[in-house]
Amino acid sequence: MEQQLMALREEATLEFTKVTDLDVLNDLRVKYLGKKGSLTGILRGMGALNADERPRIGQIVNDIRAELEKIITARSEELKQAAMAKRLASEKIDITLPGHRPKLGHKHPLTLTLDRIKSIFMRMGFTVAEGPEVESDYFNFEALNLPKDHPARDMQDSFYITPDILLRTHTSPMQARYMQSKQPNEPVRIIAPGKVYRCDYDATHSPVFQQVEGLVIDKGIRFSDLKGTLDLFAKEMFGSSVKLRFRPSFFPFTEPSAEVDISCVMCGGQGCRTCKDTGWLEILGSGMTHPGVLEKSGYDPNEVSGFAFGIGVERTAMLVYGIDDLRLFYDNDSRFLAQF
Ligand code: FA5
Ligand code: MG
Repeated sequence: MEQQLMALREEATLEFTKVTDLDVLNDLRVKYLGKKGSLTGILRGMGALNADERPRIGQIVNDIRAELEKIITARSEELKQAAMAKRLASEKIDITLPGHRPKLGHKHPLTLTLDRIKSIFMRMGFTVAEGPEVESDYFNFEALNLPKDHPARDMQDSFYITPDILLRTHTSPMQARYMQSKQPNEPVRIIAPGKVYRCDYDATHSPVFQQVEGLVIDKGIRFSDLKGTLDLFAKEMFGSSVKLRFRPSFFPFTEPSAEVDISCVMCGGQGCRTCKDTGWLEILGSGMTHPGVLEKSGYDPNEVSGFAFGIGVERTAMLVYGIDDLRLFYDNDSRFLAQF
């Protein structure tokens, strides 16, 4: 048996030193030292030995195992280093080359504009409220004095989901939603930004665009409060030299109503395709809250009054950045977007 063991030791040592591949080395380890390997095989024959022989042979088996393990470890280390050296010799890395700079994104110009609008009004004490884009006919029209057959509905042709549910055409439904979530006559000072949808499409009209609704209700709110608020907003947004025009207009939910135009920055007021040769670009609609709108949402027009406005975010961004076609904001052309 001792001879068998010595032969195995010699054979294994020879094979381990000849091997040049890590996987093959591992196979050899299994072949000699594994559970079903040669050494274990010889060990099984120990039962046939004399009791006084067993410890001696056992010791030899343990020594051989330890010795072979040591050879394998050393050999595997050698092979690993050789593989690494080979890789280093063939791989050429020039550490002086410039690295790949990751392209950092930034906020979209419309988001930047909306952030500024929000921050201007928040400094004036407004809080931000948000509501659903899929809206009921009731909040989008009915609660705002626009009954089913009202001709002013045609100004805001929309996308209907059912005859009673549509994509909201403006952020004004938030006026009624907000008032109805409050106690009757509770003061209100909110802006409500969000996406709105209309069947519109040209250089100044997009089918999806954003508005910022404003609503202020309290005792003794007057038209001068509306004018002062919007004047301050426009000066903060466009600079103190901006020209502002309040143009009498009509909305069923405000009385009186006014649309506000800003002098066209594209042509300096001379007239161009952006301002449709008028020299002005409309950015918002506004007015004093109609008594019927207050009543429909549980407020008493004899106790409180208010004003409201709806600012077009894309139009504001066009004027701030001097963009003559609002569709550029939605094309996602990175050459355009990288400029902001
Ligand atoms: C309204 O939507 C009213 N709800 C505004 C309002 C609120 C009036 C509260 C009174 C009280 P108007 O349809 O005019 O009004 O739209 C308001 C602004 O949205 C416009 O001044 C314009 O800046 C912008 N706008 C309108 N249609 C589009 C469009 N298709 N694409 C981009 N901006 C638009
Ligand atoms: Mg308008």
